Amino acid sequence: MSRIVLGVSGGVAAYKAALLLRAFTEAGHDVRVVPTPGALHFVGAATFEALSGNPVTTDVWSDVPEVAHVRIGQEADLVVVAPATADLLARAAAGRADDLLSATLLTAHCPVVFVPAMHTEMWLHPATQDNVATLRRRGSIVLPPAVGRLTGPDSGPGRLPEPADIAALAAVVLESGAAALAQDLVGRRVVISAGGTREPLDPVRYLGNRSSGKQGWALARVAAARGAEVVVVAANVELPAPFGVRVVPVGTAEELRTAMHAEARDADVVVMSAAVADFRPAAVAGAKMKKDSAGEPESVPLVRNADVLAELVTERRPGQLVVGFAAETGDAEADVLTHARAKLARKGCDLLVVNDVSAGQVFGKADNTVVVLAADGSAEEIGPGPKDLIAAGIWTTIAARTTPA
Ligand SMILES: Cc1cc2nc3c(=O)[nH]c(=O)nc-3n(C[C@H](O)[C@H](O)[C@H](O)COP(=O)(O)O)c2cc1C
Repeated sequence: MSRIVLGVSGGVAAYKAALLLRAFTEAGHDVRVVPTPGALHFVGAATFEALSGNPVTTDVWSDVPEVAHVRIGQEADLVVVAPATADLLARAAAGRADDLLSATLLTAHCPVVFVPAMHTEMWLHPATQDNVATLRRRGSIVLPPAVGRLTGPDSGPGRLPEPADIAALAAVVLESGAAALAQDLVGRRVVISAGGTREPLDPVRYLGNRSSGKQGWALARVAAARGAEVVVVAANVELPAPFGVRVVPVGTAEELRTAMHAEARDADVVVMSAAVADFRPAAVAGAKMKKDSAGEPESVPLVRNADVLAELVTERRPGQLVVGFAAETGDAEADVLTHARAKLARKGCDLLVVNDVSAGQVFGKADNTVVVLAADGSAEEIGPGPKDLIAAGIWTTIAARTTPA
Protein backbone atom coordinates (compact mmCIF):
# COMPACT_ATOMS: atom_id res chain seq x y z
CA MET A 1 0.00 0.00 0.00
CA SER A 2 1.31 3.46 -0.91
CA ARG A 3 0.18 6.92 0.16
CA ILE A 4 -0.99 8.79 -2.91
CA VAL A 5 -2.00 12.44 -3.01
CA LEU A 6 -4.49 13.01 -5.82
CA GLY A 7 -4.48 16.72 -6.71
CA VAL A 8 -7.52 17.83 -8.70
CA SER A 9 -7.73 21.24 -10.34
CA GLY A 10 -10.67 23.07 -11.89
CA GLY A 11 -11.30 21.66 -15.36
CA VAL A 12 -14.29 19.80 -16.76
CA ALA A 13 -12.25 16.58 -16.65
CA ALA A 14 -12.32 16.76 -12.82
CA TYR A 15 -15.18 14.24 -12.97
CA LYS A 16 -12.69 11.64 -14.27
CA ALA A 17 -10.62 12.15 -11.10
CA ALA A 18 -13.31 10.20 -9.22
CA LEU A 19 -12.61 7.17 -11.45
CA LEU A 20 -8.86 7.57 -11.02
CA LEU A 21 -9.38 7.75 -7.25
CA ARG A 22 -11.37 4.53 -7.47
CA ALA A 23 -8.58 2.83 -9.47
CA PHE A 24 -6.03 3.84 -6.81
CA THR A 25 -8.14 2.65 -3.86
CA GLU A 26 -8.98 -0.63 -5.62
CA ALA A 27 -5.23 -1.21 -6.07
CA GLY A 28 -5.02 -0.94 -2.26
CA HIS A 29 -3.54 2.55 -1.93
CA ASP A 30 -4.39 5.15 0.70
CA VAL A 31 -5.46 8.25 -1.21
CA ARG A 32 -5.73 11.80 0.05
CA VAL A 33 -7.58 14.01 -2.43
CA VAL A 34 -6.50 17.65 -2.50
CA PRO A 35 -8.76 19.63 -4.86
CA THR A 36 -8.38 23.30 -5.69
CA PRO A 37 -11.38 25.51 -4.81
CA GLY A 38 -12.04 25.58 -8.59
CA ALA A 39 -12.22 21.76 -8.75
CA LEU A 40 -15.07 21.78 -6.25
CA HIS A 41 -17.19 23.71 -8.77
CA PHE A 42 -17.11 20.52 -10.86
CA VAL A 43 -17.12 17.68 -8.28
CA GLY A 44 -18.31 17.95 -4.69
CA ALA A 45 -15.96 17.30 -1.75
CA ALA A 46 -18.41 14.62 -0.55
CA THR A 47 -17.64 12.47 -3.62
CA PHE A 48 -13.89 12.57 -2.93
CA GLU A 49 -14.37 12.05 0.83
CA ALA A 50 -16.69 9.08 0.36
CA LEU A 51 -14.51 7.37 -2.27
CA SER A 52 -11.19 7.99 -0.46
CA GLY A 53 -12.35 7.62 3.15
CA ASN A 54 -10.21 10.67 3.94
CA PRO A 55 -11.14 14.31 4.69
CA VAL A 56 -10.95 16.83 1.87
CA THR A 57 -9.81 20.43 2.28
CA THR A 58 -8.71 23.00 -0.25
CA ASP A 59 -7.07 25.76 1.79
CA VAL A 60 -4.22 26.04 4.25
CA TRP A 61 -6.50 27.46 7.01
CA SER A 62 -8.30 24.18 7.72
CA ASP A 63 -6.70 21.58 9.99
CA VAL A 64 -4.22 24.20 11.27
CA PRO A 65 -2.91 22.17 14.29
CA GLU A 66 -1.99 19.38 11.82
CA VAL A 67 -0.14 21.83 9.52
CA ALA A 68 -1.73 19.98 6.62
CA HIS A 69 -0.06 22.10 3.94
CA VAL A 70 3.32 20.68 5.01
CA ARG A 71 2.38 17.21 6.27
CA ILE A 72 0.35 15.94 3.29
CA GLY A 73 3.20 16.55 0.84
CA GLN A 74 5.93 15.28 3.15
CA GLU A 75 4.17 11.98 3.82
CA ALA A 76 3.22 11.14 0.23
CA ASP A 77 4.82 8.35 -1.82
CA LEU A 78 3.39 9.79 -5.02
CA VAL A 79 1.52 12.94 -6.05
CA VAL A 80 -0.68 12.79 -9.15
CA VAL A 81 -2.40 15.99 -10.31
CA ALA A 82 -5.25 15.04 -12.66
CA PRO A 83 -6.56 17.10 -14.28
CA ALA A 84 -3.83 19.75 -14.12
CA THR A 85 -5.26 23.03 -15.46
CA ALA A 86 -3.19 25.67 -17.26
CA ASP A 87 -3.59 27.81 -14.13
CA LEU A 88 -2.37 25.05 -11.79
CA LEU A 89 0.68 24.37 -14.02
CA ALA A 90 1.47 28.11 -13.93
CA ARG A 91 1.16 28.26 -10.14
CA ALA A 92 3.31 25.16 -9.70
CA ALA A 93 5.96 26.48 -12.10
CA ALA A 94 5.99 29.80 -10.23
CA GLY A 95 6.31 28.05 -6.86
CA ARG A 96 3.11 29.61 -5.51
CA ALA A 97 1.56 28.26 -2.30
CA ASP A 98 -1.79 30.02 -2.14
CA ASP A 99 -3.96 26.93 -1.80
CA LEU A 100 -3.47 23.51 -0.22
CA LEU A 101 -2.57 21.77 -3.52
CA SER A 102 0.13 24.23 -4.61
CA ALA A 103 1.56 24.24 -1.04
CA THR A 104 1.56 20.42 -1.06
CA LEU A 105 3.51 20.44 -4.34
CA LEU A 106 6.23 22.51 -2.65
CA THR A 107 6.62 20.09 0.28
CA ALA A 108 6.50 16.77 -1.62
CA HIS A 109 9.80 14.87 -1.81
CA CYS A 110 8.22 12.03 -3.80
CA PRO A 111 7.67 11.72 -7.58
CA VAL A 112 5.07 14.19 -8.90
CA VAL A 113 3.01 13.41 -12.03
CA PHE A 114 1.03 16.20 -13.73
CA VAL A 115 -1.72 15.15 -16.15
CA PRO A 116 -2.69 18.30 -18.07
CA ALA A 117 -6.16 18.74 -19.57
CA MET A 118 -7.33 21.91 -21.32
CA HIS A 119 -8.33 23.31 -24.68
CA THR A 120 -5.75 22.87 -27.43
CA GLU A 121 -5.04 26.62 -27.60
CA MET A 122 -4.30 26.75 -23.87
CA TRP A 123 -2.07 23.64 -24.10
CA LEU A 124 -0.07 24.89 -27.09
CA HIS A 125 0.31 28.44 -25.75
CA PRO A 126 4.01 29.25 -25.20
CA ALA A 127 3.23 30.26 -21.59
CA THR A 128 1.85 26.78 -20.83
CA GLN A 129 4.64 25.04 -22.76
CA ASP A 130 7.26 27.07 -20.84
CA ASN A 131 5.61 26.11 -17.54
CA VAL A 132 5.65 22.44 -18.57
CA ALA A 133 9.35 22.70 -19.52
CA THR A 134 10.12 24.31 -16.14
CA LEU A 135 8.29 21.58 -14.21
CA ARG A 136 10.06 18.85 -16.21
CA ARG A 137 13.46 20.49 -15.69
CA ARG A 138 12.82 20.41 -11.93
CA GLY A 139 12.15 16.66 -12.02
CA SER A 140 8.37 16.46 -12.30
CA ILE A 141 6.72 14.11 -14.78
CA VAL A 142 4.28 15.83 -17.15
CA LEU A 143 2.22 13.39 -19.22
CA PRO A 144 1.12 14.38 -22.72
CA PRO A 145 -2.60 15.09 -23.10
CA ALA A 146 -4.67 12.71 -25.17
CA VAL A 147 -5.94 13.81 -28.57
CA GLY A 148 -9.70 13.71 -29.01
CA ARG A 149 -13.03 15.27 -28.20
CA LEU A 150 -12.75 18.27 -25.87
CA THR A 151 -15.48 19.93 -23.80
CA GLY A 152 -17.48 21.27 -26.72
CA PRO A 153 -17.81 19.99 -30.30
CA ASP A 154 -14.09 20.63 -31.01
CA SER A 155 -11.29 18.10 -30.74
CA GLY A 156 -7.48 18.11 -30.61
CA PRO A 157 -4.71 17.58 -28.06
CA GLY A 158 -5.84 18.56 -24.56
CA ARG A 159 -8.07 15.74 -23.44
CA LEU A 160 -7.45 14.02 -20.09
CA PRO A 161 -6.18 10.45 -20.71
CA GLU A 162 -8.43 7.64 -19.49
CA PRO A 163 -8.13 7.04 -15.72
CA ALA A 164 -7.00 3.41 -16.26
CA ASP A 165 -4.07 4.61 -18.38
CA ILE A 166 -3.06 7.23 -15.79
CA ALA A 167 -3.29 4.58 -13.04
CA ALA A 168 -1.10 2.18 -15.07
CA LEU A 169 1.64 4.80 -15.48
CA ALA A 170 1.36 5.80 -11.82
CA ALA A 171 1.89 2.12 -10.94
CA VAL A 172 5.13 2.13 -12.96
CA VAL A 173 6.38 5.15 -10.98
CA LEU A 174 5.38 3.60 -7.64
CA GLU A 175 7.18 0.37 -8.59
CA SER A 176 10.36 1.78 -10.15
CA GLY A 177 10.56 5.44 -9.07
CA ALA A 178 10.44 8.65 -11.10
CA ALA A 179 13.37 7.46 -13.26
CA ALA A 180 10.99 5.04 -15.00
CA LEU A 181 9.25 8.03 -16.58
CA ALA A 182 12.30 10.35 -16.72
CA GLN A 183 11.54 13.25 -19.06
CA ASP A 184 14.58 12.40 -21.17
CA LEU A 185 12.87 11.97 -24.55
CA VAL A 186 11.47 15.52 -24.81
CA GLY A 187 12.11 16.83 -28.34
CA ARG A 188 12.91 13.33 -29.66
CA ARG A 189 10.93 11.74 -32.46
CA VAL A 190 10.40 8.03 -31.95
CA VAL A 191 8.95 5.52 -34.43
CA ILE A 192 7.86 2.12 -33.17
CA SER A 193 6.46 -0.82 -35.11
CA ALA A 194 4.08 -3.04 -33.15
CA GLY A 195 1.87 -6.08 -33.61
CA GLY A 196 2.15 -8.84 -36.20
CA THR A 197 1.77 -8.72 -39.97
CA ARG A 198 -0.79 -10.81 -41.87
CA GLU A 199 -0.01 -12.12 -45.36
CA PRO A 200 -3.19 -12.86 -47.33
CA LEU A 201 -3.78 -16.22 -49.02
CA ASP A 202 -7.22 -15.33 -50.35
CA PRO A 203 -9.85 -12.72 -49.38
CA VAL A 204 -10.57 -14.42 -46.03
CA ARG A 205 -7.39 -16.28 -45.01
CA TYR A 206 -3.94 -15.12 -44.05
CA LEU A 207 -0.62 -16.36 -42.68
CA GLY A 208 -0.12 -14.56 -39.39
CA ASN A 209 1.69 -14.80 -36.07
CA ARG A 210 0.85 -14.60 -32.39
CA SER A 211 2.14 -11.09 -31.61
CA SER A 212 -0.54 -9.08 -29.74
CA GLY A 213 1.21 -5.70 -29.92
CA LYS A 214 1.18 -5.34 -26.11
CA GLN A 215 4.95 -4.81 -25.76
CA GLY A 216 4.99 -2.32 -28.66
CA TRP A 217 2.03 -0.49 -27.09
CA ALA A 218 3.86 -0.33 -23.75
CA LEU A 219 6.97 1.05 -25.49
CA ALA A 220 4.83 3.73 -27.17
CA ARG A 221 2.96 4.65 -23.98
CA VAL A 222 6.15 4.97 -21.92
CA ALA A 223 8.03 6.91 -24.65
CA ALA A 224 5.14 9.42 -24.83
CA ALA A 225 5.10 9.69 -21.03
CA ARG A 226 8.86 10.40 -21.16
CA GLY A 227 8.15 13.33 -23.51
CA ALA A 228 8.81 11.86 -26.97
CA GLU A 229 6.79 12.57 -30.09
CA VAL A 230 5.70 9.02 -30.87
CA VAL A 231 4.45 7.36 -34.05
CA VAL A 232 3.40 3.71 -33.92
CA VAL A 233 3.16 1.70 -37.11
CA ALA A 234 0.65 -0.88 -35.91
CA ALA A 235 0.14 -4.20 -37.67
CA ASN A 236 -3.25 -5.67 -36.72
CA VAL A 237 -3.26 -4.50 -33.10
CA GLU A 238 -6.70 -4.79 -31.53
CA LEU A 239 -6.06 -2.60 -28.50
CA PRO A 240 -7.18 0.99 -27.80
CA ALA A 241 -4.48 3.39 -29.02
CA PRO A 242 -2.15 4.66 -26.29
CA PHE A 243 -2.68 8.37 -25.54
CA GLY A 244 -0.28 10.98 -26.85
CA VAL A 245 0.71 8.71 -29.74
CA ARG A 246 -0.03 8.82 -33.50
CA VAL A 247 -1.01 5.40 -34.86
CA VAL A 248 -0.46 4.37 -38.51
CA PRO A 249 -2.41 1.12 -39.08
CA VAL A 250 -0.95 -1.44 -41.51
CA GLY A 251 -1.77 -5.06 -42.43
CA THR A 252 0.97 -6.79 -44.41
CA ALA A 253 4.76 -6.80 -44.16
CA GLU A 254 4.96 -4.75 -47.34
CA GLU A 255 2.59 -2.09 -45.93
CA LEU A 256 4.61 -2.00 -42.72
CA ARG A 257 7.81 -1.63 -44.75
CA THR A 258 6.44 1.36 -46.70
CA ALA A 259 5.12 3.07 -43.53
CA MET A 260 8.33 2.49 -41.55
CA HIS A 261 10.53 3.94 -44.30
CA ALA A 262 8.30 7.04 -44.52
CA GLU A 263 8.10 7.59 -40.74
CA ALA A 264 11.73 6.70 -39.94
CA ARG A 265 13.14 9.37 -42.25
CA ASP A 266 13.31 12.09 -39.58
CA ALA A 267 13.20 9.91 -36.44
CA ASP A 268 15.82 9.97 -33.69
CA VAL A 269 14.99 6.43 -32.56
CA VAL A 270 13.48 3.58 -34.60
CA VAL A 271 12.21 0.52 -32.71
CA MET A 272 11.18 -2.55 -34.70
CA SER A 273 9.14 -4.48 -32.17
CA ALA A 274 6.55 -5.83 -34.66
CA ALA A 275 6.65 -9.48 -35.67
CA VAL A 276 7.06 -9.15 -39.43
CA ALA A 277 6.41 -12.24 -41.58
CA ASP A 278 9.58 -13.57 -43.22
CA PHE A 279 7.55 -15.08 -46.07
CA ARG A 280 4.29 -14.40 -47.90
CA PRO A 281 2.23 -16.52 -50.29
CA ALA A 282 3.64 -16.11 -53.80
CA ALA A 283 0.13 -15.47 -55.14
CA VAL A 284 -3.06 -14.22 -53.49
CA ALA A 285 -6.21 -15.92 -54.80
CA GLY A 286 -8.78 -13.38 -55.98
CA ALA A 287 -11.67 -15.52 -54.70
CA LYS A 288 -11.97 -17.69 -51.60
CA MET A 289 -10.35 -21.11 -52.09
CA LYS A 290 -13.24 -23.59 -51.85
CA LYS A 291 -12.90 -26.71 -49.71
CA ASP A 292 -13.68 -29.43 -52.23
CA SER A 293 -13.00 -27.65 -55.48
CA ALA A 294 -10.49 -28.69 -58.12
CA GLY A 295 -8.62 -25.48 -57.31
CA GLU A 296 -7.69 -26.76 -53.82
CA PRO A 297 -3.93 -26.10 -53.43
CA GLU A 298 -1.62 -29.03 -52.82
CA SER A 299 0.95 -26.63 -51.45
CA VAL A 300 1.25 -22.89 -50.85
CA PRO A 301 4.40 -21.51 -52.47
CA LEU A 302 6.00 -18.74 -50.41
CA VAL A 303 8.33 -15.91 -51.32
CA ARG A 304 10.68 -14.05 -49.01
CA ASN A 305 9.62 -10.65 -47.64
CA ALA A 306 12.06 -7.74 -47.47
CA ASP A 307 14.13 -7.53 -44.27
CA VAL A 308 12.74 -4.21 -42.96
CA LEU A 309 15.10 -3.99 -39.96
CA ALA A 310 18.18 -4.52 -42.15
CA GLU A 311 16.90 -1.89 -44.62
CA LEU A 312 16.27 0.63 -41.83
CA VAL A 313 19.82 0.03 -40.52
CA THR A 314 21.27 0.64 -44.01
CA GLU A 315 19.27 3.84 -44.44
CA ARG A 316 19.66 5.23 -40.92
CA ARG A 317 20.59 8.90 -40.78
CA PRO A 318 23.52 10.17 -38.67
CA GLY A 319 22.72 10.01 -34.95
CA GLN A 320 19.66 7.80 -35.45
CA LEU A 321 19.47 4.76 -33.16
CA VAL A 322 17.91 1.58 -34.58
CA VAL A 323 16.60 -1.02 -32.12
CA GLY A 324 15.56 -4.51 -33.23
CA PHE A 325 13.53 -7.15 -31.43
CA ALA A 326 14.22 -10.87 -31.61
CA ALA A 327 11.75 -13.51 -30.52
CA GLU A 328 14.06 -16.51 -30.14
CA THR A 329 13.93 -20.09 -28.94
CA GLY A 330 16.96 -22.18 -28.09
CA ASP A 331 17.58 -25.35 -30.13
CA ALA A 332 20.05 -28.20 -30.47
CA GLU A 333 22.55 -25.87 -32.17
CA ALA A 334 22.71 -23.02 -29.66
CA ASP A 335 20.95 -21.22 -26.80
CA VAL A 336 18.71 -18.15 -27.16
CA LEU A 337 21.44 -15.55 -26.54
CA THR A 338 23.88 -17.15 -28.99
CA HIS A 339 21.23 -17.02 -31.72
CA ALA A 340 20.43 -13.43 -30.75
CA ARG A 341 24.08 -12.28 -30.84
CA ALA A 342 24.39 -13.72 -34.34
CA LYS A 343 21.23 -11.85 -35.34
CA LEU A 344 22.54 -8.56 -33.91
CA ALA A 345 25.76 -8.95 -35.90
CA ARG A 346 23.85 -9.91 -39.07
CA LYS A 347 21.38 -7.01 -38.90
CA GLY A 348 23.82 -4.34 -37.72
CA CYS A 349 21.34 -2.57 -35.43
CA ASP A 350 22.51 -0.65 -32.34
CA LEU A 351 20.48 -2.63 -29.80
CA LEU A 352 18.63 -5.93 -29.97
CA VAL A 353 15.89 -6.67 -27.42
CA VAL A 354 15.73 -10.44 -26.99
CA ASN A 355 12.58 -12.29 -25.95
CA ASP A 356 12.80 -15.97 -25.07
CA VAL A 357 9.53 -17.25 -26.57
CA SER A 358 10.02 -20.93 -25.71
CA ALA A 359 7.08 -22.70 -24.04
CA GLY A 360 4.42 -20.09 -24.82
CA GLN A 361 6.10 -17.28 -22.87
CA VAL A 362 5.59 -13.63 -23.97
CA PHE A 363 2.90 -13.66 -26.72
CA GLY A 364 -0.28 -12.05 -25.40
CA LYS A 365 0.96 -12.24 -21.80
CA ALA A 366 1.04 -9.24 -19.46
CA ASP A 367 4.52 -10.01 -18.03
CA ASN A 368 7.80 -10.31 -19.86
CA THR A 369 11.58 -10.64 -19.37
CA VAL A 370 14.05 -9.38 -21.98
CA VAL A 371 17.79 -9.12 -22.50
CA VAL A 372 19.03 -6.00 -24.30
CA LEU A 373 22.14 -6.78 -26.35
CA ALA A 374 24.25 -3.88 -27.63
CA ALA A 375 26.58 -3.76 -30.61
CA ASP A 376 29.45 -3.07 -28.14
CA GLY A 377 28.92 -6.54 -26.62
CA SER A 378 27.07 -5.55 -23.44
CA ALA A 379 23.98 -7.45 -22.26
CA GLU A 380 21.38 -6.20 -19.78
CA GLU A 381 18.51 -8.26 -18.37
CA ILE A 382 15.25 -6.36 -17.71
CA GLY A 383 12.40 -7.98 -15.77
CA PRO A 384 10.53 -10.10 -15.11
CA GLY A 385 7.71 -7.61 -14.84
CA PRO A 386 4.69 -6.07 -16.52
CA LYS A 387 5.31 -4.90 -20.09
CA ASP A 388 5.17 -1.19 -19.03
CA LEU A 389 8.06 -1.79 -16.61
CA ILE A 390 10.02 -3.66 -19.30
CA ALA A 391 9.35 -0.74 -21.66
CA ALA A 392 10.65 1.73 -19.04
CA GLY A 393 13.86 -0.31 -18.68
CA ILE A 394 14.33 -0.47 -22.46
CA TRP A 395 13.87 3.32 -22.79
CA THR A 396 16.38 3.97 -20.01
CA THR A 397 18.93 1.92 -21.98
CA ILE A 398 18.04 3.69 -25.25
CA ALA A 399 18.04 7.19 -23.70
CA ALA A 400 21.53 6.60 -22.28
CA ARG A 401 22.74 5.98 -25.85
CA THR A 402 21.12 8.95 -27.57
CA THR A 403 22.56 12.44 -27.49
CA PRO A 404 20.28 14.93 -25.67
CA ALA A 405 17.92 16.96 -27.92
C1 LIG B 1 -16.76 25.20 -17.50
C2 LIG B 1 -15.29 25.46 -17.34
C3 LIG B 1 -14.40 24.52 -17.80
C4 LIG B 1 -13.02 24.72 -17.67
N1 LIG B 1 -12.16 23.75 -18.13
C5 LIG B 1 -10.83 23.95 -18.00
C6 LIG B 1 -9.93 22.96 -18.44
O1 LIG B 1 -10.32 21.88 -18.92
N2 LIG B 1 -8.60 23.20 -18.33
C7 LIG B 1 -8.12 24.36 -17.81
O2 LIG B 1 -6.91 24.53 -17.77
N3 LIG B 1 -8.97 25.32 -17.36
C8 LIG B 1 -10.30 25.12 -17.44
N4 LIG B 1 -11.17 26.09 -16.98
C9 LIG B 1 -10.63 27.32 -16.43
C10 LIG B 1 -10.19 27.12 -14.97
O3 LIG B 1 -11.28 26.69 -14.17
C11 LIG B 1 -9.59 28.42 -14.40
O4 LIG B 1 -8.42 28.74 -15.13
C12 LIG B 1 -9.29 28.33 -12.93
O5 LIG B 1 -8.59 29.52 -12.55
C13 LIG B 1 -8.45 27.10 -12.59
O6 LIG B 1 -8.12 27.16 -11.23
P1 LIG B 1 -7.49 25.91 -10.47
O7 LIG B 1 -6.36 25.42 -11.33
O8 LIG B 1 -7.03 26.46 -9.19
O9 LIG B 1 -8.55 24.92 -10.29
C14 LIG B 1 -12.55 25.91 -17.08
C15 LIG B 1 -13.47 26.83 -16.60
C16 LIG B 1 -14.83 26.62 -16.71
C17 LIG B 1 -15.77 27.64 -16.17
